[in-house]
Amino acid sequence: MKREVLLVTGPGGDAQGWGNMAVTEVLNDTINALGVKCSIAYVNNRREFDDVMDKASCDLVWSSLYYLSEREDIVGAPDDAEWISDLLDARNIPYIGSSAQTMKDLILKFVTHEIMAKAGVCVPYHVLVNPGENIPEEIPFPAFVKPNGESRSVGISDRSVVKDRAELEAQVAWVHSELGQGALIEEYLPGDEYTVLMLGNGEHQEILPGKVTVDETHYGKFRILRSDLRGVGLTKVSIPTEHFDEAVELCRKATDALKCMDHVRADMRVGADGRLRIIEVNGIPGLKPVKSWSPQIFSLYHPQETPEADYREMIRTILVSAFARIGKPL
Ligand SMILES: Nc1ncnc2c1ncn2[C@@H]1O[C@H](COP(=O)(O)OP(=O)(O)OP(=O)(O)O)[C@@H](O)[C@H]1O
Ligand SMILES: [Mg+2]
Repeated sequence: MKREVLLVTGPGGDAQGWGNMAVTEVLNDTINALGVKCSIAYVNNRREFDDVMDKASCDLVWSSLYYLSEREDIVGAPDDAEWISDLLDARNIPYIGSSAQTMKDLILKFVTHEIMAKAGVCVPYHVLVNPGENIPEEIPFPAFVKPNGESRSVGISDRSVVKDRAELEAQVAWVHSELGQGALIEEYLPGDEYTVLMLGNGEHQEILPGKVTVDETHYGKFRILRSDLRGVGLTKVSIPTEHFDEAVELCRKATDALKCMDHVRADMRVGADGRLRIIEVNGIPGLKPVKSWSPQIFSLYHPQETPEADYREMIRTILVSAFARIGKPL
């Protein structure tokens, strides 16, 4: 019998998940081309989600949303968020990707750091300052300030790197007022940037490291991926010649500690001591064909005859692992 997948997206699909509606449509076409029946549910709110799910007959849902939201600009994740994975668990409908608990752990970078640190994974020094809280006295400089729950480098500019207390206070206040969420203070990691793709589970799992570079002329004061360098075709990914095994090991430890499933991407940077540290694990990585880092990394390791074929093969790998996990092999 033909297997069936339902893609769930909505206004937050780009900020939270794999990309905008155009990306969802390509994904839909790709899954149908693989011989799996696929359709799209675009939901604005809980009522629309419930209407769709009441009639759904799919084997698996694949969601570009962590939670239902009408916001297109930021992830946000308010305290009363209605998490897609919780709503699907309540209906006993399996889904592609990590469990509800893991999704929640991944969206808040401070929580991700705490879980990884407890499991002995190398993470940067980190402190969370929520709106209304005071910044602790002893912060080592230079430090890096970012929103606790965003993606796509939202809120990241050269001002994120702070060298003293005055710059730190100004940037923390900016995150609070402009993005309405906690500010995460980390040690500034001055070295190269890596992103590591985790695909599949158990013995079939693959961990594929990529090194991310941007032409030096595009950097300002610091070699960081500012928001204006993201999503515009300026970043390049290559197979790393240094830190390869270290990146694989770090990603494996992190994704094990966080109990990640099917497809995640772990971002890392080299610290002042020359060692890699994880800066975040993306629970719903970008899936824009050719452009997003996951398909780019996959292409480096599994080149087929065309980039479209690479993309199809990567999506097939994710589907095979997720269907195997729910006991309905493709
Ligand atoms: N501690 C740090 N030190 C130096 N640079 C950092 C640090 N944390 C983040 N950055 C820079 O900011 C960028 C965005 O940070 P991060 O990956 O944490 O957030 P994101 O916006 O969620 O990313 P994604 O789009 O991958 O979801 C990184 O790619 C990196 O260049
Ligand atoms: Mg990142």
